[in-house]
Amino acid sequence: MLRLLLPTLLFANLLMAQGTAEYPDDYLSPAFHAGRRAAFREKMPQRSVAMFFASPQKVRNNDVNYIYAPSKNLYYLTGLEEPNALLLLFKQSVTLLGKTGTEFIFVQPRNPQREMWTGKILGPTGVMQKYQMENVFTTDQFSGRLLDFAQLDTIITSFRTEQILFKYPGRGDLLANMAASLDSALLQAGKIPMPSPATAILHQLRGIKQPEEIALMEKVINMSVEGHNRVIRTIRPGMHEYDAQALMEYEFKSRGSEYVGYPSINGSGANSCILHYETNQRTLQDGDLLLNDCGAEYHGYSADVTRTIPVNGKFSPEQKIIYELVLAAQDAAFALCKPGNQFSDPHNAALKVITAGLKDLGIIQSDNQARIYFPHGTSHHLGLDVHDMGSRSTLQPGMIFTVEPGIYIPPNSNCDKKWWSIGVRIEDDLLITSEGYRNLSAGAPRTVEEIEKMAKSAGKKKKAL
Ligand code: GLY
Ligand code: MN
Ligand code: MN
Repeated sequence: MLRLLLPTLLFANLLMAQGTAEYPDDYLSPAFHAGRRAAFREKMPQRSVAMFFASPQKVRNNDVNYIYAPSKNLYYLTGLEEPNALLLLFKQSVTLLGKTGTEFIFVQPRNPQREMWTGKILGPTGVMQKYQMENVFTTDQFSGRLLDFAQLDTIITSFRTEQILFKYPGRGDLLANMAASLDSALLQAGKIPMPSPATAILHQLRGIKQPEEIALMEKVINMSVEGHNRVIRTIRPGMHEYDAQALMEYEFKSRGSEYVGYPSINGSGANSCILHYETNQRTLQDGDLLLNDCGAEYHGYSADVTRTIPVNGKFSPEQKIIYELVLAAQDAAFALCKPGNQFSDPHNAALKVITAGLKDLGIIQSDNQARIYFPHGTSHHLGLDVHDMGSRSTLQPGMIFTVEPGIYIPPNSNCDKKWWSIGVRIEDDLLITSEGYRNLSAGAPRTVEEIEKMAKSAGKKKKAL
């Protein structure tokens, strides 16, 4: 009896552990999006309307499109991931097409023939059900003349509106038709749309992450940490930059990540000094550093993590010196990540450490030369966009941003050639809390000792293949 029962129990456990849901069930909830729309409306000026477009699909080549990336402002406010849509938010209630309210959305109509090729289009009924929105229409029902401009003092456009109008004029597609109709109605009414109020409000809202967003950020950052750790354990001379990319992205994908947050950067040797290197074709040589700047994307949210590792598992003396200087800069920046400090404080601290260190090493002679080798900023907000919206003034709980100092010394730099081809960036994703910060990417090793230990722990000597 027990012999029969035991496997049954084990099997049931396994099913429970793996989950039986057909699709992920951890998307942002309709209540989250409704809350974000309410917060946005709260900050709108009196007698205003705000309009958010979902951009159309873009052609990659011939009849192949790029993978569609939902327009992030519209996604934040509704959850909608389809192209060709327009959301109208009114400060005061209005009546449009027989419906009274403050929120109206126009979406692409269903099209059974197209759906057979490229999948389900939600249509108004689907959008009502999935996102629990009430006033949902199709794009062909929209006309700029629906808006009573006499009642509106401020017309707010999402910051991409102008680009839509100029980029897709007269293409005859759903979005261009809506944009053109809106444009001519605005012209007739003598109203000029303004992007800046929407941008200012969205910086405030998107820059402070809600608990549901923090939960997704933790997931996507953990996926990314697993990718980095896999690369640290596996990579060795004779493999290629693209092997690092493949190992990394396998770990992302196999955890449910839909895309990468940005093209993976896997630069070895001199390529480690190219800030946004994406070619990833070189064969890894014994003695190289390999800079991996890679982050997964999950349900629209992106991680952004960099680890720089020795391909053979052990830093050379020069690599170790530069690495530990970047690490000290990052630690100095971390120390200033707390509420009340300025967004620029961590960067200034990192720059100070790197400047003093490069001078001590004789790599630079004067302070203003530091930017030759550390030419970028230390922090940017992180969330729905890898370079996310958010205030760059005072740090507040709920902000998530990167801390990513670096030193890059390309070949033929004006210093001793023993430093050439050393490019180091260390990038972590921090959540500001009421007490200070939590490093969400701390699961990937940061110190020389931790990295060398993880590289060794795979049990293989890092010999050339
Ligand atoms: N991965 C791009 C950046 O670090 O900003
Ligand atoms: Mn970054
Ligand atoms: Mn990065």
